[in-house]
Amino acid sequence: MTKPKIVVFISGSGTNLQALIDATKSGDLECEIALVVSNKPGAYGLKRAEQNNIPTLVKTLKQYKDQGKTRLDYDIDLATEVIEKLECTPSLIVLAGFMHILSADFLQLFPKDSVINLHPALPGAFDGAKAIERAFEAFQKGEIEHTGVMVHRCIPEVDRGTVIVKQICPIEKTDTLTDLEERIHKIEHELIVQGTGLALMMANK
Ligand code: GAR
Repeated sequence: MTKPKIVVFISGSGTNLQALIDATKSGDLECEIALVVSNKPGAYGLKRAEQNNIPTLVKTLKQYKDQGKTRLDYDIDLATEVIEKLECTPSLIVLAGFMHILSADFLQLFPKDSVINLHPALPGAFDGAKAIERAFEAFQKGEIEHTGVMVHRCIPEVDRGTVIVKQICPIEKTDTLTDLEERIHKIEHELIVQGTGLALMMANK
């Protein structure tokens, strides 16, 4: 039986992409990472993809802005190129540290619920960028007791949408920001695999 094809979107180091690659190799995840997409040409995650013979697609918003085109043009071309490169619609798109907000028009070009996102915070808390830093500051001000990680369905509202899996991450009084980042990333590397597996399972029902 052919494995479902997934596409992973990244913008940076790609440690979560690596967790997915490792899980496909160990058999913990039954799918093929058929394409890695980055909006940043220098993203280290692209090297991880190349080292594992996974095709890549790099597309920057700057190229579009320089030509007087819009974010919407970018999103639509990006979706079209993903489908063209794969020669099919992917079973799942996993946003693993992709720091570009995709529009409703992008999401509509893929089957319902087939785009999921990893976010380093609990549902409804610290939407958007620098979520770990903001949680750390909130803890120091006594505003929160813990933070967390979630994998959720993508909707046009940033970091919202039905939660597939979430986990609380404790914060210790003695933590530095680096301590908290490390603890969050450790949880992420497990949750991204779990969330992807669950989303694929639900898509097959
Ligand atoms: C991860 O911490 C991910 O949760 C975060 O970017 C990092 C990417 O790390 N994403 C967001 O903040 C999305 N709102 P990685 O490139 O090493 O996988």
